[in-house]
Amino acid sequence: MTPTDTDRLTSAVTGRLAADARCVTQWLEAWFARQDAAADRLAEAMSHGVLNGGKRLRASLVLSSARLATAHEGTSDAKAQGQPEAIAAAVEMLHAYSLIHDDLPAMDDAELRRGLPATHIAYDEATAILAGDALQTAAFEILASADTHPDAKIRCQLVSCLASASGLAGMAGGQMLDLQAEQTRFSLDQTTQMQAMKTGALIRAATVMGGIAGGASETMISALADYADAIGLAFQLADDLLDYQAESTELGKPAGRDAEAGKASYVHFYGVEGTREKAEALVEVAAKALAPFAQDAEPLLDLAQFSINRTH
Ligand code: IPE
Ligand code: IPE
Ligand code: MG
Ligand code: MG
Ligand code: MG
Repeated sequence: MTPTDTDRLTSAVTGRLAADARCVTQWLEAWFARQDAAADRLAEAMSHGVLNGGKRLRASLVLSSARLATAHEGTSDAKAQGQPEAIAAAVEMLHAYSLIHDDLPAMDDAELRRGLPATHIAYDEATAILAGDALQTAAFEILASADTHPDAKIRCQLVSCLASASGLAGMAGGQMLDLQAEQTRFSLDQTTQMQAMKTGALIRAATVMGGIAGGASETMISALADYADAIGLAFQLADDLLDYQAESTELGKPAGRDAEAGKASYVHFYGVEGTREKAEALVEVAAKALAPFAQDAEPLLDLAQFSINRTH
């Protein structure tokens, strides 16, 4: 990319991401305000985990693919579209739960998250475990609500999509493999499978769920899934590179821990330059998948570039 391309991308994507982030953050704040929980310490810890910043990439993927789908093949009836921002909020809750548990001493033992004390440091371990649990169940409660989407069949598809991306064959399974990789040296293929599960599955689900909510055809869903598989891997390549190269202050989370813990990291296989090149090649793959949608796919393509050009 030329410097001018980079400038255009930076302002376009940060502008759109910031607007999507504001929208989902406001939705989450309103959700917390509606809860009348006796366990207010738990509500506070949940809110610490999900309202403490974050790039909101997955929220923007939900909203951008929903916009692409409605523009191309969905309905223009706003009521029939439901609330894509509720779906985006549910995905961010699920993601926040995965981060709260990822940081626990039994997992990555990380004290910093999004520039703030991790939830188990700000509260305590038991509260952090419960905050993750309750964020996860809240995500599914939101997806099952008729306010989120008026069509019960679509709501079932959304629940099913997020559940399979989060469980045994998705994020939780990938986290298990990530921990096992600290003891056994993983091959490149095993590392790729682990990353596709722990990070890729939720990125794919976010993108596909936006499409489902927007009324995308099977062809469009399949193109969105191909795009998301490529950026999910590119995103994790960038995450591994940042862990290797960046400073904790910029990252907002502890840097240099992958090598310390003996994690399976792409930098180990490809080196710094090779990891960067591989990530760029994957962004090309993502762009090809969305080529049939021409200009309308630009916001999603910008998010693909952002996934590898980000600084934290
Ligand atoms: C971090 O995800 C965890 C990984 C899957 C690598 P993000 O980098 O998207 O974290 P936030 O939401 O912006 O904090
Ligand atoms: C965690 O991967 C991915 C999930 C939380 C599912 P990492 O352990 O690499 O994420 P960071 O680097 O702590 O954000
Ligand atoms: Mg981890
Ligand atoms: Mg971690
Ligand atoms: Mg990491």
